[in-house]
Amino acid sequence: MIKKITSILIAILILTFSQIKADEGMWIPLFLKKYNIEDMKKKGFKLTAEDIYSINKASMKDAVMIFGGGCTAEIISDRGLILTNHHCGYSSIQSHSSLEHDYLTNGFWAMSDKDELPNEGLTVTFLVRMEDVTSQVLNGVSDEMSYDEQEKIIAKNIEKVEGKAQKGNNYKISVKSFFYGNQYFLFVQKVYKDIRLVGAPPSSIGKFGGDTDNWMWPRHTGDFSLFRIYANENNEPAEYSENNVPYKPIKHFPVSIKGVKKNDFTMVFGYPGRTQEYLTSYAVDMIKNKINPHRINIRQNIIDIMSEDMEKDRAVRIKYASKYARVSNYWKKWIGENRGLEILNAVAKKEETEKQLTEWINKDEDRIAKYGNLLPDFKKLYSEYTPYKLAEEYFYEAIWRMESMKFSSKMASFIRNSEKDKDAEIEKIKKYGKKFFKDYNVSTDKKIFKTLLKLYYENAGSDFQPELMNMFKTFSHFDLDEETILNNYVDYYFENTFYLNEDNFFDFIEKYNYGSESNIKITETPAYNFFYDFVNVYYAKIKPNTEKYTSQINKKTKLYMRALMEANPEKNFYPDANSTLRVAYGKVDTYEPRDGVLYDYYTTLSGVIAKVNPEIYDYNVPDRLIELYNKKDYGKYAENGKMHVCFIASNHTTGGNSGSPVINGNGELIGVNFDRNWEGTMSDIMYNPDQCRNITLDIRYVLFIIDKFAGDKRLVEEMDIVE
Ligand code: ARG
Ligand code: ASP
Repeated sequence: MIKKITSILIAILILTFSQIKADEGMWIPLFLKKYNIEDMKKKGFKLTAEDIYSINKASMKDAVMIFGGGCTAEIISDRGLILTNHHCGYSSIQSHSSLEHDYLTNGFWAMSDKDELPNEGLTVTFLVRMEDVTSQVLNGVSDEMSYDEQEKIIAKNIEKVEGKAQKGNNYKISVKSFFYGNQYFLFVQKVYKDIRLVGAPPSSIGKFGGDTDNWMWPRHTGDFSLFRIYANENNEPAEYSENNVPYKPIKHFPVSIKGVKKNDFTMVFGYPGRTQEYLTSYAVDMIKNKINPHRINIRQNIIDIMSEDMEKDRAVRIKYASKYARVSNYWKKWIGENRGLEILNAVAKKEETEKQLTEWINKDEDRIAKYGNLLPDFKKLYSEYTPYKLAEEYFYEAIWRMESMKFSSKMASFIRNSEKDKDAEIEKIKKYGKKFFKDYNVSTDKKIFKTLLKLYYENAGSDFQPELMNMFKTFSHFDLDEETILNNYVDYYFENTFYLNEDNFFDFIEKYNYGSESNIKITETPAYNFFYDFVNVYYAKIKPNTEKYTSQINKKTKLYMRALMEANPEKNFYPDANSTLRVAYGKVDTYEPRDGVLYDYYTTLSGVIAKVNPEIYDYNVPDRLIELYNKKDYGKYAENGKMHVCFIASNHTTGGNSGSPVINGNGELIGVNFDRNWEGTMSDIMYNPDQCRNITLDIRYVLFIIDKFAGDKRLVEEMDIVE
């Protein structure tokens, strides 16, 4: 009887494991032909796997790039014009902005090549090719070896593979691990360094709804900006130069203005950053119940302070716009993630998977020998790891988020390096200071500093407090309450750190005479000592432990991943996102966020207008947009008299997919990916096909804004528009 029940259970297990949940997955472009293309065709894709990724002919991969550090962009003309999100171009747009030229508020449109603005440090990265190098990387590695031994050989092998690939070229070469060390790929990339700002709508369009609407559907944000790749006369990468010319791509996307309907095939091709789909229940429990609540609370505190100051002063709003957006983005994401995990019952679902896997393991002696201890080990590891992980989060989220902390760290490296190359270091720190003070408001920083220090003191754990925190104990002997002690310290900190004052900083740097006497001025400041104390605690007590535990967890995860794959041989696994190029595909679809509520798949300009409220910064649109709406002056971009703005689909995406091309069954561009719905943000840990949607900006709205709103017709003319 028992045997019968187990075999039924196993049958169910195999069934649930092997059903690839509709539309879940971020697939490796190299393997589409093997695993996905038939399924994609069934769902409406009309081209071949080679049209997406090929090293023998121009393919879509030649028109998709990593934009900056963490977004995706795509080429949309034969003159290297690229499209990404407004929020991806945000810091570039912001860095060109001031009260006089406020491109954030007013938008920016280059009416000729000459007007396009260079952005120091901004790059785009193309994938030249990728290659499965698993057998080379795992050459000489055996299961009998210890994990550390294995890792040593792997590191050596990787070095060899990379060295060979680097010979005779200037490509960027890297080998990356997939499935937690069960598979390895070589990536050959080409980096272009002269990327110029071409166009950006005003934030009232590009960031419409701001952080209030962020991570939400229905959405009305025109989240796009335009850049152009410049190359040298041989079409090759070059540092910025006036002589550079627009890059001539081998492939660019045609742009379709035919629109989308429910159930249409869509594909997102881009660079998802990180997902953790194969975590154990212990890990999900840690993230959801022990880490996320603290992260959310720390950021809530920062947000409250920043928004109060930004509301009061327009200059502060400009200075802190980018910082605020960065902090608030994941604050909101974690709130959504926790709710989604709760509703999905994610921890219990993981426990169920683990129970089934354990049954599979226990059926065979070999499996017991190899995998028998895995789950109990995970349980122990996570419980020991949690306090260190929490302290690390507090270090990064609270201490490292203090603006003065970053300045002090620059001062530390200035001292360290100025002996070697004085003049260069002086130039570097001056430049840093200029940028720092452009966007700095000391009273905001002071309030945030005080709040974060208190949060750290109260929550990071008593083992991780630097010497300095003894002040709370010392001074309490004198009958001072904590609030007074803290206030006194904060005043002392800011009054006695000369470099947190712009004039004093530049004055000091002008007179700097390279030597210990000058350096003492820096090292005796409270901010410098604070920095030093906290960094010491981090390196002595936090980092060694988080590293120890993550390395042990990684070691187990490698085996765990293998066990999952062996237990489910018919399941098509996809690797977690790791900032490499992936294909997600799905369909345009509605969803039910709550019982009795159905969300449609698209939004229109009338929804923008309905939200308009000149009193609220996030909902105050330009008059010109209202005018166009009133006249229904949409040109050829309308559908049945309506201007569509955004649509949703079931593509599995994550951070890094922002700016990714959203492509129809014919390989034409139909939109730019920019977000997910709040109900679906747990997809980084567990995907739910009923609730997870990616949010796309309809390409017709992009064209309408460029053409009708901004009148930058030359840009529309250089695209290939499919009507
Ligand atoms: N949530 C989107 C993503 O993770 C967009 C973020 C930018 N927008 C914002 N209002 N902060 O990046
Ligand atoms: N908005 C995200 C990004 O910037 C995309 C996402 O998390 O869905 O990459």
